[in-house]
Amino acid sequence: MNDPKINAGFNVGGLRLERPFKIRRLGHFGVNVVDIPRAAKFYCDLLGFAVSDPINFNRDEHTAIEKVGSGLGYFMRHGTDHHSFVIFPLRVVNARPGRDKWPKDMTINQITWQVGTLREVVEGNRWLSEMDLQINRTGRDNPGSNWHTYPIGPGYHINELYYGIEQVGWDGLSKPAPMHEKHYMKPPDLPHRSEFAEVQTAMDKSVDIRTGYRHIDPNPEKYDVGGVLLARPFKVERIGPVRIFYDDIDKELAFYRGTLGLVVTEEVVWKGHRCVFLRANNEHHSLALYPRALRRELGLSEHTTLMAFGMQVGSYEQLRAAKEFLGGKGVTLKSLPAELFPGIGHSVLAIDPEGHAIQLYDYMEQIGWDGKPRPVTQRRKIDNENWPDVLEPLGDSYCGETFLGPIG
Ligand SMILES: [Fe+2]
Repeated sequence: MNDPKINAGFNVGGLRLERPFKIRRLGHFGVNVVDIPRAAKFYCDLLGFAVSDPINFNRDEHTAIEKVGSGLGYFMRHGTDHHSFVIFPLRVVNARPGRDKWPKDMTINQITWQVGTLREVVEGNRWLSEMDLQINRTGRDNPGSNWHTYPIGPGYHINELYYGIEQVGWDGLSKPAPMHEKHYMKPPDLPHRSEFAEVQTAMDKSVDIRTGYRHIDPNPEKYDVGGVLLARPFKVERIGPVRIFYDDIDKELAFYRGTLGLVVTEEVVWKGHRCVFLRANNEHHSLALYPRALRRELGLSEHTTLMAFGMQVGSYEQLRAAKEFLGGKGVTLKSLPAELFPGIGHSVLAIDPEGHAIQLYDYMEQIGWDGKPRPVTQRRKIDNENWPDVLEPLGDSYCGETFLGPIG
């Protein structure tokens, strides 16, 4: 590591690492939108996300409802993590002091990474704070209960490292408001009591733990998805990759590789444009960096630095059904050349009501102990304009992060 900011030798769970944390996976992501109800319909009714909690950002004189409209935003989930995707109100977020200096095309509200322990968040925050980096805030947020620190990356992309996000169980209920009362605006002293002890304390105080938010999908269950009836013919089972546009690749790599410790899996030069793909774990990539010049060339929305946000569905069969379903609902669909997406299978972009591209796909190449991606010549040839009815499996088909629990 030739970055002078990196002091080799942090003990992370008994392993000597170059930084005091190890990112395990992309945890969640979100975008800021002008029309929250319209976006909520797209992400919930069409893509199948469940609201885990609403949030109100009308909080002070800068963000008052009379000035900037409703501050309503939503935390949403596809599995048991309290949130894997969030939509926040663009006008209200942009009314915060200092935001006028941010790029006008910043609609990404966070790129969030899970680390393994609370200590990694606390010591990571201390380490990041000693760098020439802006830390947006640190502590713990409710709803969601996750402990975190928010370093701002190049191009004003807010990143977050977190541990311990609330899990929503079989009853579909998030934690009730009385359990949100304790606020942490700085890292806690360690060790901290467990979440079980926190819940027990609330129960001992007779907090009714069954009064949290519960999403009810208003759409009829009429599609057979692997033998289960759902309201749409597919299930988003995993999130990511995040694909963003960059201005300066050296700054991006210094941050995502040098500071956060993501690993470069592969680089592609497409029509002269350098695209870099980084991973946190065994997935080929969870973050992809594309030069800003590609945005117009690919015909993507100029209102955002988001090239696309990936959502992996349960199977190729579901992917084909998702394309037909979303097209039938009037969603704008777009195909891009597979060369821009090494390591994933067939994919289609579903454009949200404000122009964000959501990339649906079914397969992510898995990287093994030797850290090597599959040679390009041994990859499946993918034509995103022509999808076959059925595919032969690859050695790592259905491998990688597995969805836990029932799909609906
Ligand atoms: Fe977050």
